[in-house]
Amino acid sequence: MNRPSNLDVLLQPRPPSPLQEVRDTRFDRHGVRLLLKRDDLVHPELPGNKWRKLAPNLRAAVAAGHGELVTFGGAYSNHLRATAAAGRLLGLRTVGVVRGEELAGRPLNDSLARCAADGMRLHFVPRCEYRRKAEPGIQAGLLAGAGAQGAYVIPEGGSNALALTGCAELGRELRGSTDIAAVACGTGGTLAGLAAGLGPDGRALGVPVLAGGFLEAEIRSLQRRAFGGPAGDWALAEGFHHGGYARVPDALEGFAAEFEDRHGLPVERIYVAKLLWALVELSAAGRFPRGTALTAVITGRP
Ligand SMILES: Cc1ncc(COP(=O)(O)O)c(C=O)c1O
Repeated sequence: MNRPSNLDVLLQPRPPSPLQEVRDTRFDRHGVRLLLKRDDLVHPELPGNKWRKLAPNLRAAVAAGHGELVTFGGAYSNHLRATAAAGRLLGLRTVGVVRGEELAGRPLNDSLARCAADGMRLHFVPRCEYRRKAEPGIQAGLLAGAGAQGAYVIPEGGSNALALTGCAELGRELRGSTDIAAVACGTGGTLAGLAAGLGPDGRALGVPVLAGGFLEAEIRSLQRRAFGGPAGDWALAEGFHHGGYARVPDALEGFAAEFEDRHGLPVERIYVAKLLWALVELSAAGRFPRGTALTAVITGRP
């Protein structure tokens, strides 16, 4: 009997991730049903949107005969960590181009240490160059500097056209059971795919975790590249970044810890905590009509 390859084991079709309804007075009192889409449980090593985005890219990389993946991220990037884990599981070399040349001589933080332990080669680059990494000339220089010229390139946050098709599957899993599906946004790729997959009866709501307000154009552009034009009904709820990326003020920390106790859900702080906080606030402000089935997509775990 043939043993399944690492690729089959890693990328086999997963059942839909669980959808759990929870009782929470902060929603109940406004007549809103809160559901948690436990995408954090979709894959043991590549939770949530990491699996949704990486799986189609890993299939494409292996099908094209690549032995190495290269991607980009900051020092705390969940995406770098997931790519490193995928490389280990599939026996592919991985290279991480990391924002911040100044980090090169310092001890690695926990996140980068896990990347390195999974075999990822880390290449630290100056922030000014990193910002321009999508420009072809600059990218070629960065890849050459990292010794990764022939590698399969996955963009920062993993959000390319293939990734959006993976995230659309998440939307399809929610058809018929949700009116609004809400998700935290970094690059906006997960929201862009989710909205496309939800179909005509559902709406997607994105909560940006970065300050800036540049996401709408980026999401439109991602959808153009993946689906040829606008897809699905989506909107952004701005104002819930809590000071910016990776900032977790005490009040947010307390909120997340309390949510964990109340519902037994491990709450990832950088994205998921901000999403849940935003939903509580928006519900209190009467932004969801009574009777709404509101799904919070749990895109990762701590
Ligand atoms: C747990 C988690 N949720 C949400 C996101 C946001 O995803 P996107 O970049 O597709 O907007 C990320 C991004 O890395 C993440 O790690």
